[in-house]
Amino acid sequence: MSNPIIKTEHLFFNYNNIEILSDINFIVSEGEFIGIIGPNGAGKTTLLKIIVGLLPPTSGSIFVFGKNPFLLRKKRHLIGYVPQANEADRNFPITVRDVVALGRYHERGFFAKLNSDDIEIVNSAIKKMNIESIADKQFNALSGGQKQRTLIARALAQRPKLLILDEPTAGIDVKTQVSFYEILKKLNGEGITIIMVSHDIGALTKEVSRIVCLNRQLHIQGCPADIMRSEQLKKLYGYDVLLLTHEGKENVNDDS
Ligand SMILES: Nc1ncnc2c1ncn2[C@@H]1O[C@H](COP(=O)(O)OP(=O)(O)OP(=O)(O)O)[C@@H](O)[C@H]1O
Ligand SMILES: [Mg+2]
Repeated sequence: MSNPIIKTEHLFFNYNNIEILSDINFIVSEGEFIGIIGPNGAGKTTLLKIIVGLLPPTSGSIFVFGKNPFLLRKKRHLIGYVPQANEADRNFPITVRDVVALGRYHERGFFAKLNSDDIEIVNSAIKKMNIESIADKQFNALSGGQKQRTLIARALAQRPKLLILDEPTAGIDVKTQVSFYEILKKLNGEGITIIMVSHDIGALTKEVSRIVCLNRQLHIQGCPADIMRSEQLKKLYGYDVLLLTHEGKENVNDDS
C-alpha cells in the first residue's frame, strides 16, 4: 500500500454556520488519479480549498504530506492547484511564459531571480502542455482552453507531487479534451498524484483510477465501472446519469 498523501478524519466545514461538508473521511494514496463528481453546490471546490490550505476545516483533521496544509510552508510548492475558471483572476497582463514562470516563485520566493534551472523547468512545463507556439503571446489574448493549459503549465512549473484541478475541461472542445487527458495520464505515469473535479462524467470515468462522489458528504467511491453501475449515482444527482456510455456519449435523462 502506498503512502497516503492526503488523509482527512471526520472533517466538517461550515460557511456562516451552514454545514457544507459533513464527516468527510478521505484518503488519497501516492500515484492515484482521482475524479471527484457531484452536483453544483456539493462542496467540491470547498474540499479542494481545504486540501490546498486556503480554508481551515471547522472541525476534524486533515493531513497533506503528513502536515496540516496551513503549515506546509516549504512543502507548499508540492501542491499544484488550478482553481475553477471563475474563481481566479485570469486577466494577467503578461505573456504566457511569464505566467508559467510564476510557478517557480513558490520555491524561490518572490524577490528571487530565476536561474537557468528554473528557466529549464519553465520551458519543460510549456512543452508538456503544448503551448510553445503561444508562449510569447499575451495571456489576456488567449482562448479559454489556451488559458487553462497555461495555468496547468504554471502548476507544473512548481514541480508538484500533487496536482489539483477544479473543472479544468469546462468549456474545452472534445478534441482538446482528449489530448488534455493524455497529458494528465502521462503526468500520472511519471508519479504525480492527480485529483480532478469535473462534471464531464463520461470522459472522467474513462480516465481515472477512482471516482469519488461528493454531495456535502462522501457518498460512494470506487473504481469507475462500479460507480457507473451504482444506483446511488442516480440519487446523488436526482436524475439518471447512468446512461453515459463508454464511447463517451452522454445521454442524460433531463427534459430541459
Ligand atoms: N465564500 C462563500 N461564502 C458562503 N458560502 C459559500 C462560499 N463559497 C461557496 N459557498 C457555498 O458553499 C456551497 C458549496 O460550494 P462549492 O463551491 O464548494 O460547490 P461545488 O461543488 O464546487 O459546486 P460547482 O459544481 O457549482 O462548482 C454552496 O452552497 C455555495 O453557495
Ligand atoms: Mg466548484
